[in-house]
Parts: sequence; C-alpha cells; structure tokens
Amino acid sequence: MSGECILEVRKLSKAFGGVQAIRSVHFSLMEGEILGVIGPNGSGKTTLVNLISGFVRPDTGQVFFKGKEITGLPPHKIANLGLTRTFQVMRPYHTLSAFKNLIVPLNSPRVRQSRGGKLGDRDAVAIDILDEVGFERDARVPFKTAGSLPLGYLKRLELARCIALKPEVIICDEVFSGLSMSEITSMIPLLERLRMDGITMIMIEHRLRELFRLADKVIVMNFGEKIAEGIPHEVMENEMVKKAYWGTEKKTS
Ligand SMILES: Nc1ncnc2c1ncn2[C@@H]1O[C@H](COP(=O)(O)OP(=O)(O)OP(=O)(O)O)[C@@H](O)[C@H]1O
Ligand SMILES: [Mg+2]
Repeated sequence: MSGECILEVRKLSKAFGGVQAIRSVHFSLMEGEILGVIGPNGSGKTTLVNLISGFVRPDTGQVFFKGKEITGLPPHKIANLGLTRTFQVMRPYHTLSAFKNLIVPLNSPRVRQSRGGKLGDRDAVAIDILDEVGFERDARVPFKTAGSLPLGYLKRLELARCIALKPEVIICDEVFSGLSMSEITSMIPLLERLRMDGITMIMIEHRLRELFRLADKVIVMNFGEKIAEGIPHEVMENEMVKKAYWGTEKKTS
C-alpha cells in the first residue's frame, strides 16, 4: 500500500422523490486498500456505488479519482479512467458466449492504449481472463452462453468484465450474494489476488464474516447516512451499528 488517496467522496447526497437515498456521505480510500461497505437493506449502498461510478448523478457533493474530479461523468468515461464496478443485479449479454462478454471492455480506449494500439487476439485474452477467475477451459465453460451459466459463474463473469478493463479500482456490489459457502470460499483467493496485483477495492457485502477476512476498513450505512467507519469487528461494537443491525444493543460474535 503506497498510502496515496485514490478515491475521495465528499458530502454526496441523492434523493429519489421523497426518499433520501444518500445523505452527505464522505470517505476516502487509499491505494491498495479494501474498503467494506455494509448496512441493512435499502440503506443506500448500491446508490452510493451508482453515484461514484456515474450511473446516477448526485444532487450535491463531489467524487475525486486520483485527484481529478469525476462527479457527473458518464460511466464509460469513469471506467476508462480505471474505476469500474460489478452489478448487484447482473446484466450479462445473455445470448453471447461468456468470453464474448469481455469484448466490450477489451475494446475500450483504456485497454487499446495499454496495448500500444495493438489488440491482438482478443478472444484469447478474454479466455485467459476467464481462466484467471476460475472458468474451466477444459469443460468449455467460457464457450457457453452467459444466459446458461449458473449464478456462481455469472458473479465471476462480472469480476472478469472488470478485470478486462485493467482497472485501478473495482467496486464489488455483493459478489458473494446467492453463492454457496464453498463458492464464496473459492472466490476469496481471487479477490486476494486482485489486491496483490495492486487493485484497490470497495466491497459492498452482507456476508460480514467473509468480508471481514478481506477488508482493511469498513463503513456502515443506515438510512442513507454513514453512521460509522473503522476497522472490521471494532466497527460492529459501535452502539449505532448494533442498533441499525439488530434494533438492540446485541453483542456481535
Ligand atoms: N432508481 C431509484 N428510484 C427510486 N428509489 C430508489 C432508486 N434507487 C434506489 N432507491 C431507493 O433508495 C434507497 C436505497 O436503495 P439502495 O438500493 O441504494 O440500497 P442498498 O443498501 O443497496 O440495499 P440492498 O442491501 O437491498 O441492496 C431505497 O429506499 C431504494 O428504494
Ligand atoms: Mg444494493
């Protein structure tokens, strides 16, 4: 970890009609860090991801990526700068084979530039990336249509789509949700490897035990506000966090 601030969110707010989905949220993320974002259903986690990644424009507040303001830029421009995200509700190209789903990021100006304008065999690069995230080439899984893949593979495909962009920051919106314990256990080394490769991550998660194995720092959302920030486990001892999670001051294990 170099200690440089890679992402800064300043007083972001967003309302949908009468619902204040995000209220004056601020935090900063250091290069190489894994930040966990937790909070009850509807507390604004996905909205926060949408605001940072350009899918929703904030009412007020600012987002800085590597010192440059990116507030209000469209998603493809933000992705092209190196900040990408997975979707909680996945949107693969269902009728395309899994590896063809990576063609869009592999064609991005960012990736073209990193290859000196030479694209080479994009299909081979796509299949190598799918190898990296655990698609069995021998079983021909990369060649199956995305629509036919079980959830565990679709979650990995989401990560592969992000990796294909050669990103600096990946925001994962519930990559563990819906997966079995063994699928989660097999995905953790992949996330650790991304961190080893120098990728900074934000992980939105309800699976606290697994998240806390990975996260350096956690922020807790409730009714659109950041109610706590700190190192995992310690943050769960915060009285407001216990109330948000259990409505009582129950002790965490
Ligand atoms: N596009 C939208 N239009 C209207 N309301 C929205 C929209 N997106 C989010 N909301 C509302 O904003 C609030 C926060 O929703 P959000 O999806 O960000 O929560 P979340 O923390 O990601 O929840 P979950 O844990 O269930 O994924 C909710 O009340 C939700 O209904
Ligand atoms: Mg969500």
